[in-house]
Amino acid sequence: MTKEKAPSIKVPLLDLKAQYQRIGAEIRRAIDEVLESQQFILGKTVRRFEEEAAAHLGCRHAVGVASGSDALLLSLMALGIGPGDAVIVPPFTFFSTVSCITRLGATPIFVDIGPQSCLMDEKKVEALLAERCKPAPDGQGLTESRSGRRIKAILPVHLFGQSCLMAPLVTLAQRYRLRIIEDVAQAFGARAPLPRGEAKYAGAIGDFGGFSFFPTKTLGAMGDGGLVATNRQDWAEKIRILRHHGESSKYRHEAIGLNSRLDEIQAAVLSVKLRHLDQWVGERIERARLYLELFSATGLLGDRILRVPTPDAGRSHVFNYYVIHVQERDGLKNFLSQQGIQTEVYYPAPAALLCLSRPPAGRFSQLRAGRRPGPRPSYLSGARTRAARVRG
Ligand SMILES: Cc1ncc(COP(=O)(O)O)c(C=O)c1O
Repeated sequence: MTKEKAPSIKVPLLDLKAQYQRIGAEIRRAIDEVLESQQFILGKTVRRFEEEAAAHLGCRHAVGVASGSDALLLSLMALGIGPGDAVIVPPFTFFSTVSCITRLGATPIFVDIGPQSCLMDEKKVEALLAERCKPAPDGQGLTESRSGRRIKAILPVHLFGQSCLMAPLVTLAQRYRLRIIEDVAQAFGARAPLPRGEAKYAGAIGDFGGFSFFPTKTLGAMGDGGLVATNRQDWAEKIRILRHHGESSKYRHEAIGLNSRLDEIQAAVLSVKLRHLDQWVGERIERARLYLELFSATGLLGDRILRVPTPDAGRSHVFNYYVIHVQERDGLKNFLSQQGIQTEVYYPAPAALLCLSRPPAGRFSQLRAGRRPGPRPSYLSGARTRAARVRG
């Protein structure tokens, strides 16, 4: 029997080798400097990158951490979010946006995404706060009626590289005294317009912005890495303490923190890449414009190709991922694979439907046995169906 040969990949989903060919010499020089210094943890290279990142984003402080997941987790920890608290979050995102909430014993309250943008619908956030929440009995914040939890924060996700409409969320947060933690893992470089014609970088608008430097991101490290952006000195200080075992000075531990530091080698790589970021983002936007032109020319738009990313006036898009919605997803994926073109499904299941609240069956069930299940997530009606529809 002859075995069918797998088609060779002609167009990879992401070609980091091509990027490395352009900047390899710069990267090697920067890494060499760290190797010469033999200082690997929290040295001058991390400090310099934090300053460069803050200057680029237009925020006062940036703190390097070990990953985007930790950037979100540490931000929630800095706000003291825990059991009994709730955080408003979209159901359609990467797993860790939601797991960082449940890990702290808090409850995610899912608010549906808009069908075109795939981003949390700010009008539905407003409806939730107005219709399903009442002032907490002790006068501190809002209680959500279904879960009985106290809502502390909104966690919008700038998904696929597109910025959320931050202005209405900021207004709601001020009205209801909520904090905003932006998940900017996929959107370093996206700008969000604000009232009075201003525009700020996503991640520099809310109370905290959590960035990921996973290698596939617009600003990707050569390993894991993350960053918390904030405009408040006291919160930046808190994150610095929490990322380093809660240590405020040598062996003085004020809190139970994490070991979650960006390392010097990754910071050196990121400093080099940050210098090229504006150009790379420009190239991504130009390619997306070309895709739109070519997709339009097929005559299939609105029919077999249901949607392509076309950001509306209030948003900007840096196209970390170029995600299209099609009628026959799996058929198209197979066909493209036969042509040597790689694709990926973002996401096969919405985070709201993944196992976030109960011990999973399978490999880790023994480890978790005996633990009490975490809080059950709460849904704004339609969140499940809409998110499930988006997958198709
Ligand atoms: C939307 C979103 N949030 C959070 C994360 C977590 O980032 P990291 O992988 O650096 O922990 C990711 C990573 O893919 C992401 O896409």
